[in-house]
Order: sequence, then C-alpha cells, then structure tokens
Amino acid sequence: MEDKTDKIISFAKRRGFIFPSSEIYGGFSSCYDFGPLGVELKNNIKKAWWNEMTKMKDNIFGLDSSILMSPKIWQASGHLTAGFADELVECKECHHRFRKDFLEKNKCPDCGGELTDPKKFNLMMKTFIGPLEDEAAITYLRAETCQGIYVNFKNVLQTMRAKIPFGIAQIGKAFRNEITPKNFIYRMREFEQMEMQWFCNPKDADKFFDFWKKERMNWYLSLGIDEKKLRATETPKEELAHYARKAVDIEYKFPFGWKEIEGIHNRGDWDLSNHSKHSSEDLSYHDDETDKKYYPYVIETSVGVDRSLFAFLTDAFTEVEGGRTKTTESKKSVETVLKLHKSLAPVKVAVLPLVKNKPKIVDLAKKVYDQLKVEFATIYDETGSIGRRYRRLDEIGALFAITIDFDSLEDNTVTVRDRDTMGQERVEIKKLINYIKEK
Ligand code: GAP
Repeated sequence: MEDKTDKIISFAKRRGFIFPSSEIYGGFSSCYDFGPLGVELKNNIKKAWWNEMTKMKDNIFGLDSSILMSPKIWQASGHLTAGFADELVECKECHHRFRKDFLEKNKCPDCGGELTDPKKFNLMMKTFIGPLEDEAAITYLRAETCQGIYVNFKNVLQTMRAKIPFGIAQIGKAFRNEITPKNFIYRMREFEQMEMQWFCNPKDADKFFDFWKKERMNWYLSLGIDEKKLRATETPKEELAHYARKAVDIEYKFPFGWKEIEGIHNRGDWDLSNHSKHSSEDLSYHDDETDKKYYPYVIETSVGVDRSLFAFLTDAFTEVEGGRTKTTESKKSVETVLKLHKSLAPVKVAVLPLVKNKPKIVDLAKKVYDQLKVEFATIYDETGSIGRRYRRLDEIGALFAITIDFDSLEDNTVTVRDRDTMGQERVEIKKLINYIKEK
C-alpha cells in the first residue's frame, strides 16, 4: 500500500499545491515551488501567524530585514564557526555523504561500504557581492531570519519607543546547505521562517519561555491540528544549538514519525552581547526605573512556514474508503477531503452553474461569482457533473459550493453545500455574503 507521505506528495502535485523546483530539468536540490493552491495556503498560514503574533499581541513589532547582510553578522552569531555545522561522513565505496547523527549503523546505508571519519560541514550558503568573486566579496544567504532582528534591536527600540519586555516578528526566506535534505518539504535548502524574538529582563526569561511555549502550542490547536499529534519535547542539554540555554521542540506526528515543526529557545544574551562585541555598538538596554543597564535575554519562537504547511496538509488529508457521497459513481473509489481549518483553506467558495449550456444560468452564476470574489477566495467551475465537481472541491478543501440551477432563475435562491457536513441549504442570493460570513 502506498505510504501516506507518498500519497500527499502526489496529491500536492496533482492538485496544484507543490511542484518540484526546475521539474522540466529533472528537479533541483531539495527546492520546491508552490503552485496556485499552495501559495494561497502558504499565504493563509503566514497571515494567521502574523495576526496572532503582531495584531493580537501587545508590544510585538514587525520587521522585514534583508536576506543578504554583512558577513560580520555571521561571525558574531557563531554561524561561521563550528557552531552551525553538521558532522558529515562519506562512503569510501560509493562516495555518498551522510549526516552522522542520522545514521543508525556505522556503515553506508546505500551500499554497506566503510565510512570516513566525520568532518564538520558548515551549512551557510556562500555567495558573492559585486563583480569580483574574491575573498573580500564573500557573503552568505541568511540561515535564520532572526539575525536581522538582533541587528535592528536598537532601531526598533528607539523608533517605537519600546520598553522591555517587547518582541520583534519577521517572516522571510532562509537558506541552509543541508547535507541530507529529505522527506519532501520537511528539510529543504531554501525555506521560509516565521520568527519572533521576545526581549525581556533575564529574571523573567523562564516565565516567558513557558508563556510562549503554551501560546505557540495553542496556535496549532486553534488552527485545527489534532491534539494527539502535537507535543512539546525538551532538547537535552548536549543537543542544544550553540546559542541556546534551553529549548523545546514543538513536534507533529508525521507518517514518518514525531518531528520538530517549531523551536522555542531561550537564547540568553548570546546574540545581543556578541553583536555588541563585534560591532562596537552598545546593544544593552537602559532600565529607567532602576537606572541600570543590561543585555536583555531573548525568548525565540521559530517555525518553518513550509514545515508547518506540511503538518497542516498532512493533518487535513482525509481519505474516505468507498466514498462519502455514496453515489454509484463513487461507491468503489476512495474520496479525499482536505479538512483544512476555515482560515487556512485556499478556496473558501466555489460557484457552480448546474449546466454550462444554458446562458441564463451561466450569466446568473457569473454575477454571483463577481459578487463573492470581492469578499472571499472564490473560484468558478462549470466542467463535469455536479457530483464530480463537489468531489474535486472537497479534495482541495473548498469550504462552500454554491450551485445555480433552474429554480435560481425563478426565485433568486441557490444551493449552498458545506464541505464538512455535506449539508445543503437554499439561500437567497442577496443574503449569501452574510450567510457565508456567519458560517
Ligand atoms: N532561529 C532559530 C532557528 O532557526 P532552527 O531550529 O534551526 O532554529 C527553526 O529552525 C525552524 O525552522 C524549524 O523548527 C523548522 O520549522 C524550520 N527549518 C529549519 N531548517 C529547515 C529546513 N532545512 N527545511 C525546512 N524548514 C526548516
């Protein structure tokens, strides 16, 4: 039987969510492209995170810093030293390379050959700035978005007249030269992060660490993730990243096991103190009440857009053996419903004329479509039987299907079908927008 991950990969491609990058050239290096529905889902996830972390929270400011930054930043942050490196081993026979910590035995998993001793391999992606490709022109694509936040700490503090505790949130691309990218979009070389850095008094760091862990767990639950498939696991001391004093992984139970989707880190004063040292700019905070200066501690929440999208997609992907509509057409088949939370569903409403060869029905359907598309992510679909169209819409998680039929021409009402209950109601066209909003 096909594994669930394989099913999701082929579904994601077939229905326009995720395509391999550079596919016509055979794909490229664990990079992926998000298709028409994938980009909508991604945008909805980012919007849900941004709303939660900036609009709904007091004292969190947004930022959009550049991807290319001074290479001095990566010296100061520890990413260019041994801190941001994986241990790499190579097979002496087939020359395939592996991350040492991913190997179960001390043998090549591909050919059984002997392995070399481990070597440190830095994950930063190198590039050149300007026309000369020499040492002086080397810089790096950022490996985490938060460094752009630390180096703007003072700018935000001053321009926003902020007082500790406060946070800075950012969404953006990050790049890592992963040795063993795998599991579809779980581990990529180019990915997107949503990170929030909470600057606080060191004495409050433990309290805020617990607060943000709870907040972030609740975010996934509020977006419909199955609570049995979500857990928080503390990272053992010996596995902590070079900047972390304490860390918890928020993990989702993928078909290939429990895996991290978000990290909550207490980074202490690692970043602000190191950037102060390397830049000679004083990034400490002056507390007006005590008249004392200190480096704030940072509690970080860091989630991959792509990785959380993979979790949302996996959680929502539901197959119903024998079909949910039980029509003769579907009886023997398996029907898929993408039970995405309503705020994440890439399509909210679909407008369907019952038949496409009756101009009056088509005209009315287009009129309804024009009204709804202003308010909701709406599509128009006139091909195939209504049953078949309903199934296609369930597959992409469309929340409501609106059918315009012969009766609509007489009484200005339409049938609204709900994705989850499959219940159908007759609704007056002029009340449609409010009806959907209320739902
Ligand atoms: N600023 C802290 C930081 O970057 P991390 O644990 O290395 O911490 C945070 O990464 C999150 O970024 C992960 O939980 C994951 O969701 C995402 N992420 C990291 N590397 C990734 C990769 N290669 N592909 C996809 N997502 C990745």
